[in-house]
Amino acid sequence: IPVEDFDLVIFGATGDLAHRKILPGLYRRYVAGQIPGTAQIIGAARTQQDDAAFRAEAREAIRKFANKGDDLSQLDDFLNHLGYVAVDARGEGGWDELKSRVRPGVVHAFYFSVAPSLFGDIAQRLADNGIADADSRIVVEKPFGRDLASARELNAVLARHFVEQQIYRIDHYLGKETVQNLMAVRFANMLFEPLWNAQYVDHVQITVAETVGVGGRGEYYDHSGAMRDMVQNHLMQLLCLIAMEPPYHFDPNAVRDEKLKVIRALEPLEPGDIVRGQYQADSDGPGYLQDVGNADSRTESFVALKVRIANWRWTGTPFYLRTGKKLRARTSEIVVTFKAPPHSIFDTENEPRSNQLVIKLQPNEGMDLTVMIKEPGPGGMRLVQVPLDMSFADALGADGTDMPDAYERLIMDVIRGNQTLFMRGDEVEAAWAWTDPIIADWEAGSKRPEPYDAGSSGPEEALRLLHRDNRRWREIR
Ligand code: BG6
Repeated sequence: IPVEDFDLVIFGATGDLAHRKILPGLYRRYVAGQIPGTAQIIGAARTQQDDAAFRAEAREAIRKFANKGDDLSQLDDFLNHLGYVAVDARGEGGWDELKSRVRPGVVHAFYFSVAPSLFGDIAQRLADNGIADADSRIVVEKPFGRDLASARELNAVLARHFVEQQIYRIDHYLGKETVQNLMAVRFANMLFEPLWNAQYVDHVQITVAETVGVGGRGEYYDHSGAMRDMVQNHLMQLLCLIAMEPPYHFDPNAVRDEKLKVIRALEPLEPGDIVRGQYQADSDGPGYLQDVGNADSRTESFVALKVRIANWRWTGTPFYLRTGKKLRARTSEIVVTFKAPPHSIFDTENEPRSNQLVIKLQPNEGMDLTVMIKEPGPGGMRLVQVPLDMSFADALGADGTDMPDAYERLIMDVIRGNQTLFMRGDEVEAAWAWTDPIIADWEAGSKRPEPYDAGSSGPEEALRLLHRDNRRWREIR
C-alpha cells in the first residue's frame, strides 16, 4: 500500500549513508509499491550538479549497494522520481531553487544526512526561506552529540525551529525486524511476561559482535569508541526494550516514556563492572592502533559492562552488555537466562539446566528457547537440553531478502508520521547522562584498554566479568 504523497529532501545526498542505505532503501520500497507515483526525492548537497548527474550517481550507488536478489528492472522508473539542488548550508546559494521544487500540500521530510555541526544552519535556512513549516518532518542521524552537553545543544538548536513531534532521531537498531519483534514477543504473549522479572530471570546478556575493524572510519571512531558508537545508542535501546514495563498502548510516546524510565533507573557503573579492549595486530591485519593511525590511542574497540537496573522488576538481575570490532563472528543476540528450578528431583548427573531464551537479531533472525526433556530411548531417566527453534525464515516462509532493511522501514515511518521507532530528545539525553561519567572516568585515568586478538571473543577480563558471578557468556559464533 503506497504511503501518502511526499517530497523527501536528503541533505548530504552525495555522502556515504545516502549511497549505502537511504537511496537503495528507497528503491526497494519503490519496487515494493510503497512510493506513490508523484513522490519526489530531492538530493541536496554542496556539489554542483544537475538532476541527470545525480540520477547517474544514484544509479551507481543502488547497483553497488543493492541486496543480493534485488530486482533492478525498475531502476530507471525509480530514478525519474529523483532531482537535485546544489545548496550551500552556510550561505544563500540554492535555497530559492529548493523552495520552488518542494510542492505544497504533500508530506515534507528533510533528512539531515550531514555532520551535526550543520544541523543548526540547515534548520535555520529551511525556516527562513519558508521551505519547512509546522507540518514538516526532519530526520537526524547518530552521532547525536558526544556527551550530554553537546546532545542538549543539538536538541536546543533543532527546537528553535521544530517541535519534538517533527523530529525523527534515527537509531537504525530500532528498525531491525527482530528488535520490533521483541515487543511483539513480550506484549502479545502470556507465556513470557509473568516470568520477566528478577524473581525468575537470572541474568540477561546482550551481545553485538562485529568481525570488521574500524577500517576507513578511524578518524571518527578514535574520537568515539565503542561506548559512544554502540552502547549509548544501539545497546541501550535493546536494553530498554527488554527491560521496560508494558506501555499502555503501542503509541510513540507511551513506548518512549517506558524506555526513558529504564534509562533513568540505571545504576551508576562501578569501575570493576567495565572492561574495555583494543584489538591487536596479527599476521592477517593491522591492530586498532595502526587502523586509526594513533599509537597512543586509549579508545576502546570493545567494551563489556555489568549493568544494574534499580527498580522493582529488575533489582537482583544483572544485564551484561558487550560489543566490539574484529571479534570471532558477526552476531547480535540477546540471551535471557532463567533461574534453575529451585529443587531437583533427579540425581546429580541429571541436574536440570536453566532455560534460555535466545533472541537473534542477526545474521539469522529468530528465537531459540532451550528446554530440558528426557533423552528418548530406554536408557532410563536422562535429561537433555534441546532448543525449541523458531527461525522466522522457516516459520513464515520469508527468506531474509524479503525483510525490509532497517532504513527502509524507518524512512517509511517518517512519511507515515509514526515516531514509535525513533528516539525522543529526553531519551538521548538520559542515555548520555548515564554514559558520561563512565567515559569521563576513563578519559581522566591512564589505564590502557586490554588487548585482544582479532577473531577472539574479546579480552580475557570480559570473560572474568561473568566468571566471578559464576556465569558464562554465550559463545560468539
Ligand atoms: C553503526 C556504528 O551505528 O552501527 C558502526 O557506527 C557499526 O560502528 C554499525 O558497525 C553496526 O550496525 P549493523 O546494523 O551492521 O549491526
